[in-house]
Amino acid sequence: MPSSLQIAILAAGRGKRMRCALPKVLQSLGGRPLLAHVLSTARKLEPRAICIVDGGGGEVRERFAAADLTWARQDPPRGTGDALRCALTGLGADGVTLVLFGADPLARVETLRQVAERAQEGILSLLTVELDDPTGYGRIVRGADGKVAAIIEHKDATPKQRAIREINTGIMAAPTAAFARWLPRIDDRNVGGEYYLTDVIAMAVADGVPVETTHPASADETLGINSKRDLAHLERIYQRAQADALLDAGVTLADPARIDVRGTLACGSDVTIDVGCIFEGDVVLGDAVSVGAHSILRDARVGAGTAIAPYSHIDGAAIGARCCIGPYARIRPGTSLADEVHIGNFVEVKASDLGERSKANHLAYVGDSTVGRDVNIGAGTITCNYDGANKHRTVIEDDVHIGSDTQLVAPVTIGRGATIGAGTTVWRDVEPGVLVFNQKTQASKADYQRPRKKIKE
Ligand code: UD1
Repeated sequence: MPSSLQIAILAAGRGKRMRCALPKVLQSLGGRPLLAHVLSTARKLEPRAICIVDGGGGEVRERFAAADLTWARQDPPRGTGDALRCALTGLGADGVTLVLFGADPLARVETLRQVAERAQEGILSLLTVELDDPTGYGRIVRGADGKVAAIIEHKDATPKQRAIREINTGIMAAPTAAFARWLPRIDDRNVGGEYYLTDVIAMAVADGVPVETTHPASADETLGINSKRDLAHLERIYQRAQADALLDAGVTLADPARIDVRGTLACGSDVTIDVGCIFEGDVVLGDAVSVGAHSILRDARVGAGTAIAPYSHIDGAAIGARCCIGPYARIRPGTSLADEVHIGNFVEVKASDLGERSKANHLAYVGDSTVGRDVNIGAGTITCNYDGANKHRTVIEDDVHIGSDTQLVAPVTIGRGATIGAGTTVWRDVEPGVLVFNQKTQASKADYQRPRKKIKE
């Protein structure tokens, strides 16, 4: 795309129908704000400038501050025509300006490129689409010659115009100088009492500037959001597209309608994902990884051949190859597991490194620990890492065996090859190779009577 392209993103509308304090463009789709989707597509066009028009609140500006963006404030919002007039104050006076809406996130780069390229020829280029139900949209009114004559907003349309199914998506492009000529002439004498950007179409026709239309590959590309219902509908479309891309890449999904990718998910070959899984941030799954039902993975890397059993949570962790995780495992940020590690049910691991073949198969807490190779951590083992004020590290060297129901009071080091007897509280460092246990006696009482339930009268 030649560098004469600049982009105006209109994002100052109040979005009252969302019934929500968060500005509409900050609502989340696939884990990212709507505006983030629009911006990443806009940037792929490599424009010379992008100007975002925001409202009075300032949250949008704060959230998206970046060196390649300019900002224009529109307060109060007085319509899309007024918004574009504000945007032009932050853009150059020449070249072509492409207009995008900040809450319409699904347009493809190729589609936008086509719209913008046509405007390079000096025409007013519109993206339009035919809808089965065009209610609410501006209608494309064509003359007897089939050429676009005007856009009439739904509110202002006659019953005959409302029957038109070709609608304005809002995406348009024209030479910037033409927009600058037309915008000051727009008025607010309409049912909405707003400065409609769509009024420029009739002005272009009057000026003899050709108005041409481009259509998207799919009507889904042009869907915008005005309500939480729209947002939920779009989320499903977006997620289905993510699922289809995974299927196309050879991933086996138990049900493509029951996966949510709220970020990026990169998969090797022969990956299997069961129902109800959520992937957030950046997740990478190696070859032949299987992810059990209802697992949640955020910012995680999982090595080849690892099996994650159902209901496991993995957050901010690197997991090696051929590991067995879960079911019901919780792996927290700062954790790194080497190859063939086993983390079983109800085991929580935080900010810890575990060496090859080490195992914590049941009911344990391993926090702030460095664990060597071939270590077995018995059921009910707890690293007591917090003294109420500070966190301390536990070091467990290679080939240590820790019996069930053991507390390791950090800071503490268990030497290589040591064995810790069941039910031991370890509060001093343990020498390599020794057996450590606490002296306890086992008492028994022969005449013990269990309490019995009182029988109610
Ligand atoms: C607009 C179009 C309509 C089209 C529809 C497609 C106009 C007059 N109408 O209608 O033809 O079919 O989009 O969805 O353009 N905005 C501002 N400032 C404002 C008003 C809006 O920045 O004062 C921004 C909004 O944040 C939003 C975009 O412009 O990103 C569109 O606003 P919206 O109210 O959704 O437009 P519609 O009335 O639905």
